[in-house]
Amino acid sequence: MKVSAIKQVELMAAKRGDVVSLAQGIPAFDTPEPLKQAAIKAMLEGKTAAYSLTYGMPELRKLIQARLAAEGMDYDWETEIVVTCGATEAITASLRALVSRERPEVVVAVPSYASYTGYVKAAGGVAHFVGLTEDQGWALDLDAARAAIGPRTAAVLVANPNNPTGHCYSQAELDALVELCEKYDCKLITDEVYRDFMLEGGSAYTPAADDRNRKTVIRVYSFSKAFCMTGWRVAFLHSDRGVVDQVVGVHDAFVTCAPVVSQYAAMSALTEGEPYVAEFRAILRRQRDELCAWLDGHKRMFRYDKPAAAYFVFPRLVRDQDDWAFTERLLHEAGVAVVPGSAFGPNTAGHVRMCFGRSAEDIREACVRMDAWLKR
Ligand SMILES: Cc1ncc(COP(=O)(O)O)c(C=O)c1O
Repeated sequence: MKVSAIKQVELMAAKRGDVVSLAQGIPAFDTPEPLKQAAIKAMLEGKTAAYSLTYGMPELRKLIQARLAAEGMDYDWETEIVVTCGATEAITASLRALVSRERPEVVVAVPSYASYTGYVKAAGGVAHFVGLTEDQGWALDLDAARAAIGPRTAAVLVANPNNPTGHCYSQAELDALVELCEKYDCKLITDEVYRDFMLEGGSAYTPAADDRNRKTVIRVYSFSKAFCMTGWRVAFLHSDRGVVDQVVGVHDAFVTCAPVVSQYAAMSALTEGEPYVAEFRAILRRQRDELCAWLDGHKRMFRYDKPAAAYFVFPRLVRDQDDWAFTERLLHEAGVAVVPGSAFGPNTAGHVRMCFGRSAEDIREACVRMDAWLKR
């Protein structure tokens, strides 16, 4: 398997030196202090040396159950919630449990997170891409979904809110996907790692909140983005007991359990983390507006939809430039790293992804450098 385009860009950036990166999709902020202190305390008290239960620490799962209940979702901490090594492992373990010789296919809505293709391959599956329609606000092409989902489908995978487009699926779109999955007895995996970053308020609809969908939907949530914890590798999935029974065996075989020190930090995130998330959200809104204002000043180069969520903007290159060639020139000539759109699926060339989750200084400096480059 090849390294992802994002990593390729990072490698090129490391070789050039003096690069401002809008490429990496990780928050530029540090993990909030109380979360770090909770981890340190647990370590010093000698609580982090051993494995936890494969499902995760009971105290953490009880907190997750309470959080889900507050969001209108009724899932049992003992049998229906699994703490995982990031969303990455939650999704890969789920896919590995679902993919079989009779059902090798995973339907992936694109553009979407570049690593999904790797997850599907690692699970032994075959990705079947279904396009989102750019001129309809990246809405799902339901006819294409109907044509793609069938008796050979193991799962349908969507990120909601989506990376790289920053859009959310409507309830009607997600309900239609659930209906198709029910019809063909496959699962809908909703990856909700950006659900805390709704930049216009409100919340993204999740089909896991409808109890009738519990046997069909596997919902994945990660602490990585909301709490600036990408390095801690902790997330969770939840679904009906029968589904979780299938997935937890793979999770056990892959990793035994999520890092225990990170589970302590995750408990602190759930009890003390909310004000920090609100602060990150406000910063992201400001930085999105700043980057979008810059794009507005360069309409002859870029067309884009203002993202409602997450921390990416995905402009189209108006002059139809090759996105890899554009990315390489921008990197070498201006010292700014972005990700070529073709990293995110087969219908996404001619775009680039810019991340506004980086520091305010980086975003400003990137805009200054791009201005100077475009003038040249
Ligand atoms: C849509 C999406 N899902 C999953 C991940 C990986 O999350 P985690 O760090 O929890 O493995 C990312 C990371 O960028 C992402 O953008």
